[in-house]
Amino acid sequence: MELIEQIKNDLKQNLSERRYEHSIGVMEMCGELAKIYNVDVDTAMLAGILHDNAKEMSPEELIKYVDDNNINITEVERINTKVLHGKVGADIAKKKYGVSKQVQQAIEYHTTTNPNMTTLDKIVYVSDKIELTRKSDTYDIEEERKLAKTDLDSAVILIINSNIKSLIEKDKLISPESIETRNKLMIEKIKSNNN
Ligand SMILES: [Fe+2]
Ligand SMILES: [Fe+2]
Repeated sequence: MELIEQIKNDLKQNLSERRYEHSIGVMEMCGELAKIYNVDVDTAMLAGILHDNAKEMSPEELIKYVDDNNINITEVERINTKVLHGKVGADIAKKKYGVSKQVQQAIEYHTTTNPNMTTLDKIVYVSDKIELTRKSDTYDIEEERKLAKTDLDSAVILIINSNIKSLIEKDKLISPESIETRNKLMIEKIKSNNN
């Protein structure tokens, strides 16, 4: 796929080596999970490699991009600028590489999550945390890798839980979307267990 090669070259120039390797790891994990959950593999890999394209922009650059391009952001996002690399990265991916709405959304939601996440969005979100160069201090990553391949929603919930806990410990703001997403997925689980 020629587009992927072009993206790889661009990312190699724009990202640190560590972040580039992470992006390749996420792309590969997205491909693996896409096969399991019947999502188009090329689409998932494209979203995976692009998910952090704006990750190394400074808070000032992110805010400037958002304001210059009329991107809607919440008050929480204006303070927690880190999460903005989702929305900004999605906009860049669309303008620079003409990616589809689905790919754009997967990039956008990988930081804050969203109650309307599709399977593709969940695959990118989870792959970001379990790709093979990644480590975690808060959960058993090997178990999480296994869980991701058998129960994607539970894998999403586990990551959201760990993020919320660490945000509370650090006394930071929590994106309300992550709580809405967690509740939605948990309610679906409770209902399906009752059937
Ligand atoms: Fe990211
Ligand atoms: Fe990432």
